[in-house]
Amino acid sequence: MYLISSQEMLKKAQRECYAVPAFNIHNLETIQVVIDTAKQMQSPVILAATPATYSYAGIQYLISICKTAASIHHFPFALHLDHHENISDIQTKIEAGIRSIMIDASHHPFEENIDIVSKMVAFSHKYNASVEAELGRLGGQEDDLIVDHKDSAFTDPDAAKEYVERTRIDSLAVAIGSAHGLYKGEPKLDFDRLAKIRNKVDIPLVLHGASGIPEQMVKQSISLGICKVNVATELKIAFSDALKQDFKLHPDANDPRHYMQPAKAAMKKIVEDKIRICGSAGKL
Ligand code: 13P
Repeated sequence: MYLISSQEMLKKAQRECYAVPAFNIHNLETIQVVIDTAKQMQSPVILAATPATYSYAGIQYLISICKTAASIHHFPFALHLDHHENISDIQTKIEAGIRSIMIDASHHPFEENIDIVSKMVAFSHKYNASVEAELGRLGGQEDDLIVDHKDSAFTDPDAAKEYVERTRIDSLAVAIGSAHGLYKGEPKLDFDRLAKIRNKVDIPLVLHGASGIPEQMVKQSISLGICKVNVATELKIAFSDALKQDFKLHPDANDPRHYMQPAKAAMKKIVEDKIRICGSAGKL
């Protein structure tokens, strides 16, 4: 069984007005939780991993575990490169079998961003790998990627149209007020801006930083064209809080086959909830 690109699943989501959830994974246990739950709920799914995760777990380990999961479950899904910036690193991972990438050149000026992303698209499409890129800039922290609030920038709808036409990307990550990590207060999303971007751009749109965004806001984003919803922080918190709690209750615990169970169960609840909110259950 092979790992698929995100292209077809996002197009289907766009046609049928739901979103495919993209869950950040880190190891065997988190992959098992996402795949088992998505399969049970018959939801298409994207497993996302940042450069730091590939370094931690090993590219070949991650690819092999994911291919095995797809094969055991007869369930093709995408293993995705989340926020990758280094072109030769992305090329190596595509050559190793990954078919869904995000090239993040959002910190570069507009023309440079277009230049880098266009080159990546030309390379990736030869392998039928789908390409997501970001215009504007999300604030917050995603692993080693830290963007101060003052350096964040919203996506301009006219610039988005030109960006998509010139780069020929398959999906566009928009900056409309969401941020990576936890929010201090209630997040404020610029739905007018999202509607304007949707009017100008006809490829699937991606919402990053979905942890902590209230259900109604995520649903409204999906109704306005978001087809992929990225979740990382909420999963990490659920997993680690349950682990901490279990060690508190059982200070002598030392068997990962036991102490991992409550952590996996807590993470599973979040995955189930996000699939429900995305409206992707039953859409396989
Ligand atoms: P959160 O960690 O805020 O859920 O963001 C995830 C994300 O956007 C991954 O790219």
